[in-house]
Amino acid sequence: MTTRITIRKPDDWHCHMRDGEMLKAVLPYTAAHFGRAILMPNLIPPVRTTADGIAYRARVMTALPQGSTFQPLITCYLTDDTDPDDVERGFKEGVFTGAKLYPANATTNSAAGVTDFRKIVRVLERMEKIGMRFLMHGEVTDADVDIFDREVVFCERVLKPWTRQFPGLKFILEHLSSKTGAEFVRAHAPQVGGTITPYHLELTRTDWLGSGLKPYMYVMPVIKTEADRQALRKAATSGEACYFLGTDSAPHPFKSKVSVNGIPGIFNAPVALAVYAKVFEEEGALDKLEAFASLNGAMHYGMLPNEGTITLEKQEWTAPEEIVVPGPDERALVHHGGERMAWGVVA
Ligand code: NCD
Ligand code: ZN
Repeated sequence: MTTRITIRKPDDWHCHMRDGEMLKAVLPYTAAHFGRAILMPNLIPPVRTTADGIAYRARVMTALPQGSTFQPLITCYLTDDTDPDDVERGFKEGVFTGAKLYPANATTNSAAGVTDFRKIVRVLERMEKIGMRFLMHGEVTDADVDIFDREVVFCERVLKPWTRQFPGLKFILEHLSSKTGAEFVRAHAPQVGGTITPYHLELTRTDWLGSGLKPYMYVMPVIKTEADRQALRKAATSGEACYFLGTDSAPHPFKSKVSVNGIPGIFNAPVALAVYAKVFEEEGALDKLEAFASLNGAMHYGMLPNEGTITLEKQEWTAPEEIVVPGPDERALVHHGGERMAWGVVA
């Protein structure tokens, strides 16, 4: 039985690092385990322009622990008015790794997102031309579509036509949550890749809603069925190049999570690798963890894998319950906080 595994240093291809005091509080957890992370641009206000991206990257670098070699990768938040010339400048100057679609009001801090997908056609044409990656919160928000079907309908109505309209564009369907979404990615690889979160591999909607409402399992895209979870576990552990690690670690102040109108997002950076390792072990696929965590994503983004390594060991430890955030945010609870974790990062 494998109880210790050394892999290339992983990257987190989908992470919310936030801003201000929250950024300072959460960044060390990601920087401790990952070589690079794609930092999502849904800040308040969002990272909409190259100038915003330069300023945000500087704030992240200032918040990094001394001596850290962690590299933040910045993304551009698309709006109805995004200027293709500015996106191109940000990409060519190495500020932006990609641009992210938030359909307006699909998730946390997406109010300034895209209200009509036709409005970003010129930006997508430009991204296709310059080889810039297109990251998507792949859900429609049409009133006639049930929340559990948003991803599936997005794939059919929006993404499938786009893959034909922009054959040279590389897509990333973020936080895959359904069997159909995972199958869509496989069928459209290598043009389309998909990130998979730890929690979509662990949880079902029965966990979330079946024995008391768990506000800390509320996330977008919402957690789905056991059949979806099983399909995602098979996809992640297959080693196939189109699937890669994206924690979607998304810290929120406690009072925003536990509220009459709670906010979606799970803060999992401290436990993400432990959860992935446990899932891969359960699936008998620890030998595929490196591909998923450290190789496939870099390849999809046209980057080299990290040089360093990380070692995980089957050794119990207790996850921190919460992080303290100076100021009005006060604190954020950690996914699995206070629980005994089976796997840990030891080097
Ligand atoms: C994310 C957040 O909190 O920013 N929330 C979430 O439920 N996943 C946004 C997102 O990725 O949808
Ligand atoms: Zn996210």
